[in-house]
Amino acid sequence: MLCGPSGTGKTSLLTCVLGLTSPSHGRVLVAGDDVTRMSKRQLAAHRRRYMGMVFQFGELLPELSARENVALAALLAGVAHTTAYDRAEALLAHLGVPEGGTPTAYLSGGERQRVAVARALITDPPLILADEPTGALDQENRDAVADILFDLPKRDGRALLVVTHDQAVARRADRWLDLIAGRLAGASG
Ligand SMILES: Nc1ncnc2c1ncn2[C@@H]1O[C@H](COP(=O)(O)OP(=O)(O)OP(=O)(O)O)[C@@H](O)[C@H]1O
Ligand SMILES: [Mg+2]
Repeated sequence: MLCGPSGTGKTSLLTCVLGLTSPSHGRVLVAGDDVTRMSKRQLAAHRRRYMGMVFQFGELLPELSARENVALAALLAGVAHTTAYDRAEALLAHLGVPEGGTPTAYLSGGERQRVAVARALITDPPLILADEPTGALDQENRDAVADILFDLPKRDGRALLVVTHDQAVARRADRWLDLIAGRLAGASG
């Protein structure tokens, strides 16, 4: 779990792990490979294989439905069409996102957030990065999303790195990291 004041670099750190941002110096090792030294193509393949990201503001394709947004991530990873859509539907149902073909632009903030969680999980990535995944959720949905996210490391040994200010979510983590003015100031757990 990673926390720290607004503007301290939490989202920037996650984008460095994803290889979307290059740090000015240093290395970023993910699954043993330095993501700062890869070509765009290698990076895309590495990211698809190892990482799933729940972006702070969802970053969904607004004109596509929830199901299409989630299935697309699987299709890009080479999953067959029917399987991708079936899995997308099952995940969205599990996360309580209403069915229907509504473009995600019209969904509520909390619904979009849950779609973003489903999209990150559909490829079963070994590393899940989640940037304030429960910020827009009521208590019931927050607990449901946290249950799903925190169950993954327990159930099948995947890693979860979550940025959160939500104490109820933070409490569930095994390790706490504070990022202050761009520096990891303290770690516990
Ligand atoms: N591409 C960019 N160009 C210039 N400044 C940037 C860029 N991306 C981030 N920043 C700045 O870097 C700092 C860290 O941003 P970041 O989004 O990582 O913060 P954060 O810790 O995630 O904050 P919050 O809790 O508000 O989401 C901020 O001051 C931000 O304005
Ligand atoms: Mg942020």
